[in-house]
Amino acid sequence: MRRPGSHLIRGRFTAPTGTDMQRFSSSLAVDLRMLDEDIDGSIAHATMLGRVGIVTPEEAETLCAGLETVREEIHRGDWVPGDEHEDVHMAVEERLTLVVGEVGKKIHTARSRNDQVATDVRLWLKRRLIELDDALADLITALLDRIEADGRVLLPGYTHLQRGQPILLGHHLLGHVWPLARDRERLAGALARVDKSPLGACAMAGTPHPIDRDISAELLGFDGLVENAMDAVASRDHEQEVVAACAICMTHLSRISEELVLWSSVEFNFVRLGDAYATGSSIMPQKRNPDAAELVRGKSARVYGDLQALLSLVKALPLAYNRDLQEDREPLFDAVDTTIASVRITAGMWRTLTVSRDRFESDLEGDFSLATELADLLAARGVPFREAHEVVGGIVRWCEEQGRGLEALTASAAREFHASFPDDLGPWLDPRAAAERRTSAGGTAWKEIKRQITMLRKTVLRKTDSESQV
Ligand code: ARG
Repeated sequence: MRRPGSHLIRGRFTAPTGTDMQRFSSSLAVDLRMLDEDIDGSIAHATMLGRVGIVTPEEAETLCAGLETVREEIHRGDWVPGDEHEDVHMAVEERLTLVVGEVGKKIHTARSRNDQVATDVRLWLKRRLIELDDALADLITALLDRIEADGRVLLPGYTHLQRGQPILLGHHLLGHVWPLARDRERLAGALARVDKSPLGACAMAGTPHPIDRDISAELLGFDGLVENAMDAVASRDHEQEVVAACAICMTHLSRISEELVLWSSVEFNFVRLGDAYATGSSIMPQKRNPDAAELVRGKSARVYGDLQALLSLVKALPLAYNRDLQEDREPLFDAVDTTIASVRITAGMWRTLTVSRDRFESDLEGDFSLATELADLLAARGVPFREAHEVVGGIVRWCEEQGRGLEALTASAAREFHASFPDDLGPWLDPRAAAERRTSAGGTAWKEIKRQITMLRKTVLRKTDSESQV
């Protein structure tokens, strides 16, 4: 008995696959996201077969036109493949043969589903990685715009979530932007390894037919070949690398999100999320919840799981292709989709939130986060830093005993602690002046922030250049 979908490859069997097995085995639902890539790969393959004379030019043309018809039919829903097809490759091939007749049976000369699927996934990734890079460039732009608008706002810089030293918001945000710029570099590095064509590797041994793998690679826009046919069908490290880069990126987004959650609390009262990204409560009418940030933070866990799945999937698999590898797409697609969505939402939050510009302005007057400034003052006047640290530690204790902050420290009181303190402590107890004095490379001074904005804007522009080459 012959059933649609399974008959193409069951010549050596006497009975069809069980329906339970068909359902269990089919990856069609997931694969359909790669329909265009599958058709593109087949068109490149058919064109190559024509050019090298494995099929006639007319046959190649018929195959290519037929493949376009199948693409349209499936996109329009005129033909709906189902679980009876093991995967998108079988579905397209079977439909092609119905559309163009006998010649359709020639499309599978000198290829295997093993190199087909490897090609499809790489093409899919190439396209999606451009979207992810665009999204990251846009998020970086949103943050740089924000720094230009609100970057001089004062806030405490934290370590251990304890107030450390006064800084400018621009400085803090640049601490998020640089990792995102590196995410783009990491993904670009991964893309270079994704961008190789496995097509023509066939099952794993190559083929006796006189194919030219360079032709199909070039038609598909690949940058070169996966040289070894075993490697081409067995390896998934390029997928793992992309998902690892996504996982690292999600870590960065989760840190940004965590701060948005904290900063939008009544306790911090430092930012207010735009209405478009804040959510209400079903019971507490006053609520203005930072769900968007919480979801990004939560979704990072999913992407870590995707990475774990992909690593475990390939671990200890014997070469070359094993059916296990069919399980790669769900975590791969999920990781890429989730990261793109999270990057976009984060950009949206930053574009629409408002910063309470004065929140820390008076709060930081006399704040102990100026203690380092006093120690640096003494050190600049020749006192060994360790001694200065000790002296200022004593000053902090003295202030605390009086239940006051550093505003209690007059110049004469300071001199009791060390003779090197100057007559006027004013400039050193001014949080903004303290921040602006940190002009060392990468310091919190506005001048340094502006320098980095210029550097980062260039990296965003470079993206546009590289894209125009794609
Ligand atoms: N559906 C398969 C996959 O996704 C395609 C390759 C099948 N190859 C095979 N030898 N069964 O991995």
